[in-house]
Amino acid sequence: MQEIVRALAALALSASMVTAGWGNLAPGADPLGTLVLVNKQHKMPAWQPLLVLPDIPPSKPAIAGNLYMRADAAAAMERMFAVALVQGHKLYGVSGYRAYSTQKAIYDRRVGEDGDAAKRYVAPPGNSEHNTGLVMDITGETSLVHGLTGTFGDTPEGQWVAQHCHEYGFVIRYPKGWERRTGYGYEPWHLRYLGEEHAAVLYDRQMTLEEYLDETAARAALDLGLAPTPTPVPAPQDTPAP
Ligand code: DAL
Ligand code: ZN
Repeated sequence: MQEIVRALAALALSASMVTAGWGNLAPGADPLGTLVLVNKQHKMPAWQPLLVLPDIPPSKPAIAGNLYMRADAAAAMERMFAVALVQGHKLYGVSGYRAYSTQKAIYDRRVGEDGDAAKRYVAPPGNSEHNTGLVMDITGETSLVHGLTGTFGDTPEGQWVAQHCHEYGFVIRYPKGWERRTGYGYEPWHLRYLGEEHAAVLYDRQMTLEEYLDETAARAALDLGLAPTPTPVPAPQDTPAP
C-alpha cells in the first residue's frame, strides 16, 4: 500500500511539473517504474532499462535473443510460464524488449505492407511499450503456427493467460473493444508488467492503464492539495408533503 501511495504521489508531482514546464520527468523520479505510460500520445522516456533474458522457451530458435525484459518483469514471466506448464498450457515468448531502431524497422515494414491499417497493431518508434522492457508478446502451443493473431485469445493457453496473468503482475494491455482508449486493436498476446497490486485492480475493474492512471493521478493530486477539492453536490431534498 505504501508503495502505491508513493507511486501516486510521484505521478501527481510529475503531472504538476509537466504543467510547470519541467519537461516530462520529475528530477530523481524513476522513469521506468512499472506504471510508466507509453502510448500514441506519450513517448518512452529517454532511458535505457537494465535487461535480463528470462528462462522461457522462444517460439522459434532464431528469436531467442529477442526476449529480454527488465529483471522484475522477467522473474514474473518465468513464474507465470512455469505455472501455466504445470497446468497443461505450454507458452512461448515471441518478442520482448525492442530498441528504437528495431521498432522503427518493424513499423516501416508493416506500414509499407499494409498502410494505415498496420497502425492499429504496431506503434511508431519511440511510442512502443516494447521499449520499456516491461512487455512480452507470447503465444501458446495451439497457436504456434499462426504467429501473433487474435486466435491466441480463443485457445486454451490464451484463455488461461487472460484469466491468470494478473496474478503474476501482467495485464493484456490492448483488450478487445477498448481500441478508442488504448489506441490499438485487440492484442491478446501483448502482456504488460505492472506488478501484482496494480494488475489486480485493472483486472478486477476491467480498466485500461490509461483510465487507471487518470484516476489515480487525480486522486493523488487531491490528496497532495495540488487540485481543488470538488464542491460537494448537495443531496437532493425530499419534496415537502403538500
Ligand atoms: N503492438 C504494439 C502496439 C507495439 O508495436 O508496441
Ligand atoms: Zn507487443
